Amino acid sequence: MNETLITILDRSTTRSFTEQPLDDDQLAALKNAALAAPTARNRQENRFLFVTNKDLLERVNQKVLELLAAEDGQTSLNRMKERGARSVFYDAPLVVFIYSKASKYAYLNAGIAVQNLALAAHSLGLGSCINGLCTDALKTDVPGNLAAEMGLEPDDHCHIAIAIGHIAQDKEPHSFDYSHCRDIE
Ligand SMILES: Cc1cc2nc3c(=O)[nH]c(=O)nc-3n(C[C@H](O)[C@H](O)[C@H](O)COP(=O)(O)O)c2cc1C
Repeated sequence: MNETLITILDRSTTRSFTEQPLDDDQLAALKNAALAAPTARNRQENRFLFVTNKDLLERVNQKVLELLAAEDGQTSLNRMKERGARSVFYDAPLVVFIYSKASKYAYLNAGIAVQNLALAAHSLGLGSCINGLCTDALKTDVPGNLAAEMGLEPDDHCHIAIAIGHIAQDKEPHSFDYSHCRDIE
């Protein structure tokens, strides 16, 4: 198998990170991977916010936990409890938020970029956890949201985020269900 396939097949979500920060080379490699993602009509509408500020990440975490407690978020909160997680970002030293203005393919563009980041992180020996839960804390119509403070304009939408860091505890890649693939020959 080639290196690319090995990276794709070996990647799995990390939900336990060490405190070790990422170095400049790792951050630069991740930025290149994000910017290398294809976008519809090459319009490059994705914007990437690389946050290493612990205080800000903790405030986003607290807002997400508050929203989950107020909404129907008990399942997510229980899952975090089972995992012994204090933070929705699992205390990763870096979280990349991907946002853009609304457009037909905005969500898909962000999805492709987040997978680029996950694979790039894995290829660097780092772990990652894609995070959909946190995006509500950056919704401009949610009271007390952190969008403006994080430099998002009122018409920006945070589609997805990804926590990245050194792996404290890994898990096996998920199993495949080949019945999800159909052939028409
Ligand atoms: C769009 C998307 C959103 C996700 N959001 C979260 C999240 O908020 N919190 C979390 O712990 N994992 C999140 N995940 C990670 C998935 O739970 C994980 O990818 C899935 O369980 C499969 O495990 P694997 O990545 O190890 O193959 C998300 C994954 C995707 C693709």
